[in-house]
Amino acid sequence: MILKDDKENHAKKIAKCIAEEIKLRQKFDQHLVLGLATGSTPISLYNELARLHVEEGLSFRDVFTFNLDEYCGLEDNHPKSYHDFMNVNLFNRIDIPRENIFIPSGQIEPLFERDYCEGYEQTIKDLGGIDVQILGIGRSGHIGFNEPGSSVDSITRKVKLHDITRTDASSDFGGFDNVPTHAITMGMKTILSANRIFFMAFGEAKQEITKRAFCEEITDDIPASHLQRHKKTTICTDFDIT
Ligand code: PGA
Repeated sequence: MILKDDKENHAKKIAKCIAEEIKLRQKFDQHLVLGLATGSTPISLYNELARLHVEEGLSFRDVFTFNLDEYCGLEDNHPKSYHDFMNVNLFNRIDIPRENIFIPSGQIEPLFERDYCEGYEQTIKDLGGIDVQILGIGRSGHIGFNEPGSSVDSITRKVKLHDITRTDASSDFGGFDNVPTHAITMGMKTILSANRIFFMAFGEAKQEITKRAFCEEITDDIPASHLQRHKKTTICTDFDIT
């Protein structure tokens, strides 16, 4: 399903869907597993989820979250880490128990990376899989940090970041050379296993790659194009892609 609207309206609608899912599960004493993204794209959504908590009493006590990715080499409290981003933009503003939050660590020794990534996958499975996944897209065509060439069978792993991705992050880090070269990301298989996906892309800079992802052939060169085969993906944009 493709929906065109402005960013704030999309945020309200997606937050409403998430809130309904949380409440439905709470009625039956069940939890909800959310897959979360970072970057400028989901900020309005996180603002709206925080508002629903503060103003309307929505509780996140039965929610578990798994973030898509983290830069390698950054400590959790680094101001540009995705740990910090999530704390500032969402977790510090809601009542989610700290032990329910999972974000890949950027601090794993190379020797233990493989086991660590397999453990991340296993934790998702143990909680019943991701119910609702939030996604943005990078100009390289990545979802999470699954850069061009990522296969549909890929799972959580360490990846090398594409130059476009590092260029787009250079202002955050004060120059291209300061941007971490690698990251840990959930895989394509991990993401595509989510029951429901909300894909968001806003602004002119995302229009061309979004069109290529959804209106052209499915290819590993544009990892987001694999979403065409996902049964329950809602594409939320503020531009036309058809
Ligand atoms: P952005 O990044 O939301 O900051 O544009 C999205 C992404 O690279 O996945």
